[in-house]
Amino acid sequence: MTAITEFVDLDCHNRVAVLTVNHPPFNSLNHGVRKGLKEGVVAALGDAAISAIVITCAGQTFIAGSDTTEFTKPPQEPGLHEVLDLIEGSAKPVVAAINGSTALDTGLEITLACHYRVALKEARFGMLLAVKLGLLPGAGGTQRLPRVVGVELALQMIVSGAMISADEALRHGLIDAIVEGDITAAGVAFAEKVVTEHWPLRKTCDLEDKLDAARGKPEIFANFRQSVARQTRGFKAPEYCIRAVEAAVHLPFAQGLERERELFFELINSLESKAQRYLFRAEPKAAEIPDVPADTPAKEIHKAAVIGAGTMGGGIAMNFANVGIPVTVVEVAQEALDHGLGVIRKNYENTAARGRLTAQDVETRMGLITGTTDFNAVADADIIIEAVFEEMPVKKEVFAKLDTIAKPDAVLATNTSTLDVNEIAAATSRPESVIGTHFFSPANVMRLLENVRGAKSSPTTIATAMAMGQRIQKVPVLVGVCYGFVGNRMLHQRGKEAEKLLLEGALPHQVDKVLYDFGFPMGPFAMGDLAGLDVGWRIRKGRGEQSAIADRLCEMGRFGQKTGAGYYKYGTGRTAIPDPDVEKIIVDVSAQFGITRRLISDEEILQRLLYPMVNEGAKILEGKIAIRASDIDVIWVYGYGWPVYRGGPMFWADFAVGLKALRDRMLEYQEQLGGDHWQPTALLNELADQGKTFTGYHSTLSYEGLYGRRTLP
Ligand SMILES: NC(=O)c1ccc[n+]([C@@H]2O[C@H](COP(=O)([O-])OP(=O)(O)OC[C@H]3O[C@@H](n4cnc5c(N)ncnc54)[C@H](O)[C@@H]3O)[C@@H](O)[C@H]2O)c1
Repeated sequence: MTAITEFVDLDCHNRVAVLTVNHPPFNSLNHGVRKGLKEGVVAALGDAAISAIVITCAGQTFIAGSDTTEFTKPPQEPGLHEVLDLIEGSAKPVVAAINGSTALDTGLEITLACHYRVALKEARFGMLLAVKLGLLPGAGGTQRLPRVVGVELALQMIVSGAMISADEALRHGLIDAIVEGDITAAGVAFAEKVVTEHWPLRKTCDLEDKLDAARGKPEIFANFRQSVARQTRGFKAPEYCIRAVEAAVHLPFAQGLERERELFFELINSLESKAQRYLFRAEPKAAEIPDVPADTPAKEIHKAAVIGAGTMGGGIAMNFANVGIPVTVVEVAQEALDHGLGVIRKNYENTAARGRLTAQDVETRMGLITGTTDFNAVADADIIIEAVFEEMPVKKEVFAKLDTIAKPDAVLATNTSTLDVNEIAAATSRPESVIGTHFFSPANVMRLLENVRGAKSSPTTIATAMAMGQRIQKVPVLVGVCYGFVGNRMLHQRGKEAEKLLLEGALPHQVDKVLYDFGFPMGPFAMGDLAGLDVGWRIRKGRGEQSAIADRLCEMGRFGQKTGAGYYKYGTGRTAIPDPDVEKIIVDVSAQFGITRRLISDEEILQRLLYPMVNEGAKILEGKIAIRASDIDVIWVYGYGWPVYRGGPMFWADFAVGLKALRDRMLEYQEQLGGDHWQPTALLNELADQGKTFTGYHSTLSYEGLYGRRTLP
């Protein structure tokens, strides 16, 4: 076997040349692989003793996409198009021999340029990454895939990320045979057959049948657009992918490729794709904690316990059961326990009714959840998560009790959303084992987990909470102790300004529409109605705070959707209907405060809702409550529905608004409206003056730990 490059070997089996990509673990396509494939094909073409070429991969998977670290580097020759043209134009047949488990993205695009394809039974095929990164498969994928599998399936694979099995691939013509045993031997045998039986050089670019079937049927595209409209709202890439596939149908291959390239470059330079690629890197980055290195021992979780089977406790327990971890749920009274377990069962049964779980799955998961009123049952749990009432004396009592019962090395976590984790930790004799695990509601659905590091949380406690988050399929982000942590602290700024906008002249549906159009699933008032206005009301009362309009609605029993009325009225469904009664209340309250109502533009609404949030994010960075700006963005995307294609509030401030423009506008609002929250924080001023960004800031940040007691090496 000859190594052509570090990543590609060439081997000859009689008259068949075999090119084997060997770039573990995913055989991702990088410069060395492209170069190796090119040189291997050229060598095979120049060797008179060779009649066919097989392309395969070593290890567990065929090429599973591109090496994404190359995206930010200058392109290096040969480009992928050059390699694909060489393969497709080869005068000797080229067979892709696809080993399990996947041929993805550029891996699949390479196979499409081959004349024939065979695969192991376990292989799966898809175009997952391009659209996720705000791109389209730009190596001919949008032109070749519809020619091979037809327009409808190609759209599903390219736009919706549908994966297909080897059986389906065979049925749809994506592969020519399913083979068994050694993939190289099987590929060589297939290539021998092609040569012996004089099979034609089938070039994908020449295939027309499946395109013909879609010609003159614009409804195929119209229907598809409609079917994905909801989940792709605001994203640029899905529409561009569809346009590229339309080009495959309407243009000759070469022109279609050109169109694909044009669309690709437009996407790669778009802020939407930049935001998506930024978030793609930001999510794993959130797991990096400067003073808790990746090799910090984390405690294995064989058994978990949850205290409280209310709204949050039930959802948290489900997360453990969903991944096969037994979990004990403790309640004060049997009635509350029965109710909590009943809600969990109903949740699972609803999922089963939608076909996403089997009846057996429901029983298996319920079987992993043990309810009890006996606190001693948590004695063997590796992690105990408290989700009782949000009252400090109750939390302290629970933690003092846990301290006497839990194993010495158990992690003790609190789901508090507003209380001081340090004070809770101080109720135990082991504050180093205490940490906040702030789940979001519904806890079994929402991906975000803010892990709240206490002043004394040990590295192992932190590492365990982060690893647990990943194990239960959440996106854990480490934050520090402060009121509201990161997400709710910023949300609070938005909420305050939303109420002011109502007092000054806007109405709930106008404010909500601005944020919906920005890309949020809903605006602050619709969200308040969904969550229940009484929750905030109770918190405000506890803190001696007021919110004139919201308080008035609550006093009238308008708690939101659950009472059929809040900022909106609701019919039988969940559709929010603007309510003249609420408008009257708002106008009255404005008058009561002596405010002359005025027309407020959508632009002003957007700026006034989001700029104070960004400023608060800057304060959070200054106070080292978040490690880096991208962590704040991850929190907003996974916890609050910030539109992915806008990257998160800090990315958006950096690149969509610009920090200088944002700061200057804040100063104008400060002059116009007054209020401390319009005072740009020092970090914002500094970065704006220097033309720098939040997202670039963390790399220069001297990380001193959330309490100034740790220093970066
Ligand atoms: N609801 C949310 O949206 C949300 C979101 C994030 C965090 N949180 C936090 O999660 C915690 C729980 O909130 P929730 O909404 O689930 O409240 P909840 O009122 O729905 O449930 C609390 C449960 O705890 C039980 N309980 C009270 N004292 C107990 C004790 N000593 N031992 C055992 N069980 C006890 C109660 O019987 C009740 O079932 C609070 O700290 C809250 O701030 C709530």
